[in-house]
Amino acid sequence: MNTEDIQARMASLAADLNRHNHLYYVLNKPEISDYEFDQLLKELEKLEEEYPQFADVNSPTSRVGGDITNKFEKVKHARPMLSLTNTYNEEEISEWVERVVKAAGKPVTYALELKYDGVAISIFYENGKFIRAVTRGDGETGEDVSANVRTIRSVPLTLHGDYPESFEIRGEIFLPRDVFDALNREREESGEELYANPRNTAAGTLKQQDSGEVAKRKLDCYLYFILSDKHSFRRHTEGIHQAASWGFKVPSEKEQMISHATDVKEIMNFIHHWDKKRFGLPFDIDGVVIKVDEMDMWDELGMTAKSPRWAIAYKFKAATAATRLNKITYQVGRTGAITPVANLEPVLLAGTRVKRASLHNADQIEKLDIREGDIVFVEKGGEIIPKVTGVDMNKRELFSQPHSYITHCPECKTPLIRNEGEALHYCPNETGCPPQIIGRMDHFISRKAMNIEGLGTETITGLYRKGIISDASDLYVLKYDDLIGVEFTITDEFGENERTRTLQDKSVRNMLSGIEASRNVPFERVLFALGIRFVGETVARKLARHFRSLDKIRAATREELMAADEVGEKIADSILVWFSDERNVRMAEKLRDAGLQLESVESGESVVSDKLAEKTFVVSGVFSSFTRDGIKQSIEQNGGKVVGSISKKTSYVVAGENMGPEKRKKAEELGIPVLSEQDYINLIQ
Ligand code: IVH
Repeated sequence: MNTEDIQARMASLAADLNRHNHLYYVLNKPEISDYEFDQLLKELEKLEEEYPQFADVNSPTSRVGGDITNKFEKVKHARPMLSLTNTYNEEEISEWVERVVKAAGKPVTYALELKYDGVAISIFYENGKFIRAVTRGDGETGEDVSANVRTIRSVPLTLHGDYPESFEIRGEIFLPRDVFDALNREREESGEELYANPRNTAAGTLKQQDSGEVAKRKLDCYLYFILSDKHSFRRHTEGIHQAASWGFKVPSEKEQMISHATDVKEIMNFIHHWDKKRFGLPFDIDGVVIKVDEMDMWDELGMTAKSPRWAIAYKFKAATAATRLNKITYQVGRTGAITPVANLEPVLLAGTRVKRASLHNADQIEKLDIREGDIVFVEKGGEIIPKVTGVDMNKRELFSQPHSYITHCPECKTPLIRNEGEALHYCPNETGCPPQIIGRMDHFISRKAMNIEGLGTETITGLYRKGIISDASDLYVLKYDDLIGVEFTITDEFGENERTRTLQDKSVRNMLSGIEASRNVPFERVLFALGIRFVGETVARKLARHFRSLDKIRAATREELMAADEVGEKIADSILVWFSDERNVRMAEKLRDAGLQLESVESGESVVSDKLAEKTFVVSGVFSSFTRDGIKQSIEQNGGKVVGSISKKTSYVVAGENMGPEKRKKAEELGIPVLSEQDYINLIQ
């Protein structure tokens, strides 16, 4: 192919991928399979690697991230990002409507929208291309998070249809609730602290430096406000319609996520509808936004100090109910964390029957003086598990006693500990406390760890309680006769419903073949499977690449551990603690005997020299004797480290042909030596 053909092929692939992306993520109507999509993407990726001079920043390949931002540039908003005045009841809405009608001197139409509980974003487009995405910041100045926002599949990178030449569009970035829950389940498995709610997590994600990590998070975005000098719509909702035709994800009219009203009654109907239905949405909302639809009124109505007069927010009250707290019980988590649970007289809350609620921790119980027998208020916010928010003191029984928090683990009777500055009590008996042991084994067999098919939580729990296994390494010595006909009782997590299960021929065979297959799982996943606190999937991968074997990790000092990517003091200490426990070491030895992969085997990464040890490289442009990945691999094989962007810490930039001018300028500014391909070859020879 000549260069023109190549350019044309790249443009056509990009156009196809953009269209399929839009069909899948915005319209929910895919036309091709994920596999076909990946094939197209791979072809484009390959061409971009070979011909980086033709690669576009808005290429569909930027969805997978990879760009690193060391410092988010400050950007002043062309027009300040305002907030909305909040209202909490019908009366306040009526007053606002009255003011609007008076100022307008005529009846007006209202656009009704959901108030997404996420992070505000402003995105700027020029000639149909994504240029820049900026956070709200203080309303006047925000931060450029373009590389991260480019990874959000529902944000178009190139527009179609009849869009204004240059405009800004604002909206809300959020983390869908199921993604948030899955993320927290994973964190729980690897013993990491749980995220508080989807909103904070979305905000934190948007400020991550590695856009590759952001891409994995599956953020989403709804757009709700267009700012442009030249457009052909006069109503806000018409603008939203048009934005949809340019490729944006906007709220669905069919599902009534956006609607119209002409009076307070209709506004209140919309509010009541969503107040009830909001928990059924796949994301969090915290209210409804009401906007004057006729945009010619906006200037006339003007602004208060911080918010426009043409729009107002109605904030939902958390759904609450009052009921009797029968008993306080305690659950021991997989990491040993103790959570107090309120066992309630069943009560209807936001459409579901609630029997249990979270009491958070000892401080919370003491602060609210919550006692068994009290009538308590239960609230359902964004979280799935309702919480107890207070006590009806007027209804307290005469002889009620303050609650005394447990001092010993309800499962294994070990005295609990509470670390300085932490809210939760822990059972420190990591290797002897049943829920912790079962939790660790459950993590070991999970999909992202050893992925043992034919084995689940129930069976693990049953086999442990029967004394057939006591840690994960025991799985590898199990034989058909140990398992066939074994009978165990299964209770749900609250110890309520019981049933019996007997292991039959088919499930025993499945189990054994699943265990057998797991002997080939690569080292990095075995390391993750061990369940060392704070060693999640990514850290395990980095550790495996750095040390290449479990023995080397075990032999490493704190400083040596911290030399690995992403390993700080907390993780290093946790690894040291893990290996200091004889029981863990013994289990690892048993896993070795069972033939598990405790070393990395990929030959491609084998060490050639340590000539580049402690040196950090940035690679840019095209090379003649290496592919881009090839030169990166060569650096790593010689002990060096490759990062994505230039900073003070960079030792060298290796420049091929067509190195980006921005990168060259930055290297010069920071006085970082720029090596040619030949200079690099000389360096390693
Ligand atoms: S319109 C000038 N519409 O709520 C008005 N905002 O409290 C611009 N928000 O900063 C905002 N959903 O982050 C608008 N449908 C919606 C919204 C919405 C959520 C957020 C937005 C804003 C905040 C104001």
